[in-house]
Amino acid sequence: MKIAVLKEAAVAERRVAVTPETVKKFMNVQASVAVETGAGLAASYTDEAYRAAGATIASRAEVLADADIILAVQGPDPDSLAGLKPGAWLVAGLNPFGERARIDRYAALGLEALAMEFMPRITRAQSMDILSSQSNLAGYKAVLDAAAEYDRAFPMMMTAAGTVSAAKVFVMGVGVAGLQAIATARRLGAQVSATDVRSATKEQILSLGAKPIFVENVAGIEGEGSGGYATEMSDAYKAAQAELVSAHIAKQDIVITTALIPGRAAPRLISDAQIATMRGGSVIVDLAVEQGGNVEGSLPGEIVERHGVKIVGHRNVPSRLAADASALFARNLFNFLSAFWDKEAGRPVLDEEIGNAVRVTQGGKVVHERLLQ
Ligand code: NAI
Repeated sequence: MKIAVLKEAAVAERRVAVTPETVKKFMNVQASVAVETGAGLAASYTDEAYRAAGATIASRAEVLADADIILAVQGPDPDSLAGLKPGAWLVAGLNPFGERARIDRYAALGLEALAMEFMPRITRAQSMDILSSQSNLAGYKAVLDAAAEYDRAFPMMMTAAGTVSAAKVFVMGVGVAGLQAIATARRLGAQVSATDVRSATKEQILSLGAKPIFVENVAGIEGEGSGGYATEMSDAYKAAQAELVSAHIAKQDIVITTALIPGRAAPRLISDAQIATMRGGSVIVDLAVEQGGNVEGSLPGEIVERHGVKIVGHRNVPSRLAADASALFARNLFNFLSAFWDKEAGRPVLDEEIGNAVRVTQGGKVVHERLLQ
């Protein structure tokens, strides 16, 4: 059983799909690991460290030759996969809706492609969930990015020269990233408020010492929502939310937006007119910028200034913490493959529930129902 690990080629991608730690773990289940030269360098994992853990280091063509499983962070360019074994698995974050044409190409190459972002939200799959592990780091980094762009302090400080007041931080979308953003902003001493469409998040916001700001006159999503995910809201809800946000946002210094709807463009939560009501020097971080953006005017990869407010739209925020993001991503992949490891077969054999959830191509065809609709 040979596992190949690719050097990532996407712009702004610094992560890697295995670390020396997970190489050792794969060796313990009798797999061999071949890592493409320099694959971990941008995340501070050297070729020497991989070699010391037991991996071989080689060119892309060499790592792909005879590989049974190919691991990557993002889906590789199909043109770069020449020479692979038909039926080989490709395990990565494949962005199946955004990169639909690539999925067809993986099918044509005979790959069995497994999209890790389709991991079901069930208890036994929590340790395999790349969306959670990466969103958590993104939520933390979003607050640091906001602090770096903000020309005031976060905590209240009483000094001989006078008092510095605490920053007011508003977190919109309280999933995994939003919860970590709240916790991080609280640790830095900010006054934090937060909102979501799912009513279950109210308790979570309170338990982190932040203030819930919720639409009360129109029903949101009861409890957790479906698998913890939100859906598109009604027009009445959107209007009520816009009114609530308008009243609240003018008093905020920092806004972190994280709202996503699976398989759809991110919901628009902040308009240009609302930004114009904020104090100059305020900062908005749009973590949904690559999915269409929660904030009017945000641009992927840029910091835009509107009405004296900075709108931060860094791409691929987890990759800005490349070492930790890789460590967690690599463990997610190992936890997934090892949970299904069949000792006799000497390879993983997926069960139906998780296999059908993540498998997007097989036998030369696209097989996932969400991609065939
Ligand atoms: P996500 O990344 O899909 O969305 C982020 C947040 O934005 C969500 O809380 C969503 O409700 C919110 N949102 C969507 N539209 C909005 C709008 N119009 N206005 C305001 N907020 C809006 O969600 P994420 O972070 O991936 O997970 C959400 C929840 O799923 C978690 O809090 C957790 O309870 C659950 N979960 C369960 C897992 C498991 O059991 N294996 C793993 C991961 C998450």
